[in-house]
Amino acid sequence: MKEVQVLDKKFGVSIPEKEIQQAVKTMAHKMNTDMAGKDVIFLGILNGCFMFAGDLFKHINLPCQITFLKLASYQGTTSSGKVKRLIGINENIEGKTVVIVEDIIDTGNTLESIIKQLKGYEPSEIKIATLLYKPEAYEKKIPIDYVGFEIPNDFILGYGLDYDGFGRNLSDIYTLIK
Ligand code: IMP
Ligand code: MG
Repeated sequence: MKEVQVLDKKFGVSIPEKEIQQAVKTMAHKMNTDMAGKDVIFLGILNGCFMFAGDLFKHINLPCQITFLKLASYQGTTSSGKVKRLIGINENIEGKTVVIVEDIIDTGNTLESIIKQLKGYEPSEIKIATLLYKPEAYEKKIPIDYVGFEIPNDFILGYGLDYDGFGRNLSDIYTLIK
């Protein structure tokens, strides 16, 4: 098995690049069909989504807008579950089909906070696309429209996902070796 050392931890490949690329293509094709004729704007959530978003959008053939948002992190201590402010919305999303593009949905806290904030801008509908989803960790009832892979509740990195800022550049997805 292909292994990498990132900082103090060892990781082994769990989803090889080829499988990722195939899943991304399948997701894009489904989106092209589902959202044909709609006024679509994709909102990629940085930093984690950058690789997934880049690959996904190459296969999207809808006329659409694409932009990227970020959750501003708090200074000092951050208590989990606290709402982080969504920054970077410069486009008018009122009346549009908004597609949130996430790398991973874990507890769903981030997702819930993003949706709450986006609703204030009155889009006509909000759809959610995530490459990775941890069903055992998910605490919310919000349905997820597009999922690349359902994965176990383990820590992963690569393909945009990081461990303390490292590992985002790996083109495969790796799982922590315990
Ligand atoms: P949630 O709010 O619990 O759904 O967590 C979402 C965020 O936690 C993601 O956007 C990631 O930044 C981070 N995250 C969750 N699981 C992992 C993981 O296994 N590896 C790296 N980052 C993760
Ligand atoms: Mg993220």
